[in-house]
Amino acid sequence: MSLNQRDQLRSRVLELLETAPEAISGQEIAERLGISRTAVWKHIQALRRLGYSIEGRSRAGYYLTGRADVLGPEEIRRRLSTRFLGRQVLYYPLVGSTNDVAKEVAEKGAPEGTLVVADQQSAGRGRLKRSWFSPPGSGIWMSLILRPRVSLAQAPRYTLVVGVAVAEAIRSLTGLAAGIKWPNDVLIRGRKVAGILTELRAEPEAVAYAIVGVGINVSQPADAFPPELRGIATSIAAELGQAHGSEPAVTRAELIADILNRLEADYLSLPPTGLGVLRQRWVNLSVTLGEPVAISDVGGEIFRGRAVDLQEDGSLVVEGERGERRAFIAGEVTLLRLPGRHNENPMAQASYGEEMLS
Ligand code: BTN
Repeated sequence: MSLNQRDQLRSRVLELLETAPEAISGQEIAERLGISRTAVWKHIQALRRLGYSIEGRSRAGYYLTGRADVLGPEEIRRRLSTRFLGRQVLYYPLVGSTNDVAKEVAEKGAPEGTLVVADQQSAGRGRLKRSWFSPPGSGIWMSLILRPRVSLAQAPRYTLVVGVAVAEAIRSLTGLAAGIKWPNDVLIRGRKVAGILTELRAEPEAVAYAIVGVGINVSQPADAFPPELRGIATSIAAELGQAHGSEPAVTRAELIADILNRLEADYLSLPPTGLGVLRQRWVNLSVTLGEPVAISDVGGEIFRGRAVDLQEDGSLVVEGERGERRAFIAGEVTLLRLPGRHNENPMAQASYGEEMLS
């Protein structure tokens, strides 16, 4: 039996446990899947090793006692309704950076939609050479390979489209009011819950591939963040007020699959240029528009004003004190008035844009 067949059977055993109204006997599982009872027992053992709490009673059979936040390729794949996003999942318990792994496999020709995901990163990267805190078991550290056939000028919009998918997925699965700080930070009550790092390989005229790295803080307790991030970063569990170690409101695999399911439809619906209907969805989620901001452009020059518009190409329009308007396609935004809290250190973890791969 191939590894793939074994994983598929394991996930069908899990599905039977998840959908059984009560306990389900080893005999019934064996019959439904056409395998021996010993094989069922081995799958149950393997699922327990993965982190599922499965109880067994001699007459009643097996049943799940809670939801487990198990992250693995099968966990993600079985929740996907996509055609190509996440159809190939490369899962690692520990990597340096999923963006680096994705870049390596993209160079070797990995297909569009390949997802690299890790339980932990030892060298997670944010924008501007910042490090990205990526401890084990508590966050989503993933990178997607996209191969859009577009010019470089059309590349910034992918970061925005992914931001929309991430914020909408968090809202729909947790009920938390996730918003987007231009262009790609996902905030809840003014604290950063997710960031996106898009890196491009460009041919002279067009994008060869884009690596979209997404980091989402899922279950870290507020005090697990390093001191420099406390008060600036947050996690879904912290925002939901969940005690550390309690059953997750949403598992990482559920969230990843929901993001990819949304993203594929949005990615395919993008017009040849610009954002199309995605622009309004981004605007609806924005915590930047209408706000006083300081924006530093790529040269480091700082411009102060009020964020007034998002253009079709994804650039942010800021109106200065004398009514002069400037459009930024790249830059670093500081919200001068943060929603839901005072402004502790808004520059930290703020980030933007695409970075060129060397
Ligand atoms: C930022 O807000 O500065 C972007 C953070 C991006 C972090 C993610 S985690 C998965 C992927 N791998 C990395 O090394 N970085 C991105």
